[in-house]
Amino acid sequence: MDEATVTIFVCVSCRRSLGDADESFDQPGQGLVDTLRAGLAGRGQASVSVTPVDCLAVCKRPCTVALAGAGKWTYLIGDLDPDSHAEEIVSAALSFAASENGIVAWRERPASFRKGVIARVPPIAVRGIAQPAALEAVES
Ligand code: FES
Repeated sequence: MDEATVTIFVCVSCRRSLGDADESFDQPGQGLVDTLRAGLAGRGQASVSVTPVDCLAVCKRPCTVALAGAGKWTYLIGDLDPDSHAEEIVSAALSFAASENGIVAWRERPASFRKGVIARVPPIAVRGIAQPAALEAVES
């Protein structure tokens, strides 16, 4: 089995409101971790690992995940539903892992990632990656 080269960080602290009362909430990221691990295992993928984290500082947009890997741009994505978007997250992570620098063509990203992107952060060693104009226009 290959060592994981990409990590899906999943915030397990986000609270999703279940009603009007402040104390009525769940923490959907907790279940999402196991769902993503099962989805990756089902595809026989060891190149992507799933790591729970306490907060990604986007607390108002649960569920929140980050895709990160050595030499790749890091993507922070929010507004993900653990029930309806789990398969998309797995697919997006595999596309991210297969990409040279973490930038997956816009048309190849699932709708949840296009709508939910919050930030992307360049890899620390990168200096001036040339990008297609379409990506720059959409993500700037
Ligand atoms: S608690 Fe989930 S991003 Fe802060």
